[in-house]
Formats: sequence, C-alpha cells, structure tokens
Amino acid sequence: MLTLDTLDITSEQAYAERGYPYEEFDLLRREAPVFWYQRPGFEPFWVLTRHEDVAWVSRNPQIFSSAQRVTVDTPDAVDMFERQLEERAAMFGHSPDDPPALSWMDPPRHRQFRQIMTPCFTPKAMAALENRFDELAAGYVRQFMERLDGFGEADVAKHLSARLPVAAICEMVGAPHADWDDVFNWTEGTVGSADPDYQLEGEDAEAAFVRNISALNQYVATLVQERMAASDGTGTDVLSRLVAARINGEALKFHEILYTVFNLLVAGNGTTRNATAGGIQALLEHPEELAKLRANPALVDSAVEEILRWTSIAIHFARTCTQDTEIRGQVIRKGETVVMWYPAANRDGDAFPDPYRFDITRTANPHFSFGGYGEHICLGANLARLQLRAILRAVLPVLGDLELVGTPEVVAQHLQVAEIKKLIVRRKG
Ligand code: HEM
Repeated sequence: MLTLDTLDITSEQAYAERGYPYEEFDLLRREAPVFWYQRPGFEPFWVLTRHEDVAWVSRNPQIFSSAQRVTVDTPDAVDMFERQLEERAAMFGHSPDDPPALSWMDPPRHRQFRQIMTPCFTPKAMAALENRFDELAAGYVRQFMERLDGFGEADVAKHLSARLPVAAICEMVGAPHADWDDVFNWTEGTVGSADPDYQLEGEDAEAAFVRNISALNQYVATLVQERMAASDGTGTDVLSRLVAARINGEALKFHEILYTVFNLLVAGNGTTRNATAGGIQALLEHPEELAKLRANPALVDSAVEEILRWTSIAIHFARTCTQDTEIRGQVIRKGETVVMWYPAANRDGDAFPDPYRFDITRTANPHFSFGGYGEHICLGANLARLQLRAILRAVLPVLGDLELVGTPEVVAQHLQVAEIKKLIVRRKG
C-alpha cells in the first residue's frame, strides 16, 4: 500500500515505467502538502504539491531564492553539472558562482536582465509572428505526412514536434534562415546522441554528443561575436538586444550573452517539443475532445491551455529558503530546499474542477505549466503557446485520420522535464 514513508517521486525508472506518480501526488496534497522528503541518493528537501503553495513560493523571491539551485538531482548529476560550470567559468575567466543563466538569478539583477528580452516575447510581438509560424507548421506537417505515407507510420516525437521549437528560437535570436537546418541537426544530435541514427561510423553516444555540442557551441559563439562586432544598437531580436543592453551602465559580457542564447535553446526546445507531442497524444487518446476541436477550431486557445496543464512537461523547480519561514504552519529553516511539483499542482482539485478530466473547453485554467507566476514565470510562455497553436491548426485536418501505434515511450529527463521519446502514428485502417 502507498504510504508517506515509502512513496517515491524521484525515481526516473518509475517515471519511465508508470508515467507521472499521480497517486503519490494525490496522497501528498491530501495528507502532507508540505512534506520533508528524505530518500537515499538525494539531499533532503521540502515537497510542495498544492496549487496555492506553489503560487506563494513562486511569488516571494526574497524568501525563496533561485541563486543556489533550481533543481534537485542525484549527487552524481549535481557533481557533473557543477564540474561543467567550473570548466566554463575557467574558460571565460569568471567566478564559478556567477549565475549560469536567468533561472539562477535573484532580484534585482534578475529583473534587470530579464527586461532586456521581455519586449521580444509579449503577446503583441508573438501576434506579428503568427502567420509565419502557421506557414512553418504547415510545411512541417506536410513533410511529416509524406513520411508517414511513405513508410506507413511515423514518429510524432522525432519527425514532427521537434522542428518548430528550434526554428522558433533561431527566429528569436535572429539566426539566419539558411542556418536553421544545421542548428536543428546539431540539437537533435545532442539530444539523441544515444540513438545510432545520430552516430557516425565508429562513434559511440559520447562521441556523437561531443561532436554535436561542440559544433553548436562554436556556431552560437560565432553568432554572438559577429553581432557584437556589427551591432549599431538598433536591432530588435533577442541577441541584438542583449548586445546593445546596459545594466547600471555596463554592457553584458560575451559569456553572459553566450550562456543566455544557449539557455534559450535548452529551455525552449525540449519543453515545447514534448508539450506538442504530448498534446497530439492527448487528443488521439480523447477522440471526443478532438472531435470538438475539429468542429470548432476557435477552441484552439483553450485547447492549448488544457494541453499545457495536462502534459505538465516541466516537472519541478526548486528554491532555497533565505530566512526561517512557515508554510501551512510548517517551519522551513533558512538554507533548506523547497521544491514545487508542477504536475501535482496542475491536478489540484481546489484549483481545477474534475482535474483528471482532459477538457479542451475548460475556461478558467490557471495552470502552472510555466511556473507559479512571479519573477521567474517562463519567459517563452507566449512563444510556446504560439507554436502549439500553429501546430494544432496545421495538424487538425489530418489528426482524425490517425491512430497511435503501440504505447508512447515517456521518460523523465533529469526529473525536471518529461520527454516523449517515441509517439508512433499511422493512418487508421
Ligand atoms: C511548453 C513549453 C514550455 C514550458 C512547459 C516551460 C516551462 C518553464 C518553467 C516551469 C519555468 C520556470 C518558472 C519558475 O521558475 O517559476 C520556465 C522558465 C523559463 N523558460 Fe520556459 N517553458 C516552455 C517554453 C519555453 C520557451 C519556448 C522558451 C524560450 C524561447 C523558454 C524560456 C524560459 C526561460 C528563459 C526561463 C527562465 C525565466 C526566468 O527565470 O526568469 N521556455 N519555463
């Protein structure tokens, strides 16, 4: 029987075998909404599963800092990450304690840094891109269907949902269109390095990873250098803004710009591609909802919000308590780690009536798939929505003719982002 003493929400193997541990999340929300999680292989931390508590922590960055850590992981994974930061810091001659990217910054620096980029991600900025993204999405769906008809089946995860997120970030940073395929191939080669399809003859997974990440690194570094050399301060894409920006009168350093562009690729790629694949899966598994959407495509906006809530692709984010405080009467000590589990908050019955029902007509949908609002709410939320809308509109005319083949493979990537590794579809017989 499931009990608080034995429950496990950090086993990647369990995520791969059973999907999100919703039963465990329900038990925690019900009986221990502020739970001290002590398990072998992890530094103990507080688990938050209720919508209201995730909101409170997210909106109080003075008490809950992002500077120390934003994720919990096994000591091996933490060591590896810290080693990478140290190597990077040595290479660019800065302190390894400098924040690796926006997610690790606290106010006021966080706000100053973020404001440089926010004009690029407003709903108005996104509206200007809508037609272009519709065209791109239509092209990717066409290629996908050609593949499907050629081979009899095709993988949504690999051959459809992967394309638009990389194109979107290239667009945002002003990478020339001619380079998009290269960036896509290096990104795929990095993400999929364990897959023999991405390995050259004689290469193993590590060699394929190093080859692709080095090429991507080199490309981004050159892009940043060229923009720094050529900038006249008037460019409006993200990279031009970073180059032209001043914080307290000082320009950003080369490595800060480089890390930021890289971070956009990391933060915006896997998340959006998996939400896209997860959304297509949810619609195929709920034909009555798909029928509603096909009958009334104006439901695309609420369908996107429900897909975001349902898939909850970002699994957790962590904060460190900066002073003794209380949540629901439970004392949290200065220095302790508090972890917000978004899929748990997204199934909280106090925030969502009938939370286990996939309902594309849900009107009030205050999901936390982009975080619990506040300082760090996902910078790319509107961009992700734009992409999901574009793909849904493009795929909708054919989706009713498709069916799933086998069981989709879902894993947790370092417990922070869920990954749909395979989602095979074919035309209905
Ligand atoms: C479905 C797709 C996406 C999901 C589910 C997602 C989810 C999240 C979550 C949960 C956070 C942390 C919020 C917090 O700490 O309170 C976050 C932060 C962030 N995301 Fe996203 N994201 C998505 C797409 C994107 C895209 C497309 C981009 C950029 C191009 C992006 C860029 C960022 C950045 C830069 C941050 C850090 C913001 C900050 O600390 O101020 N994300 N995202």
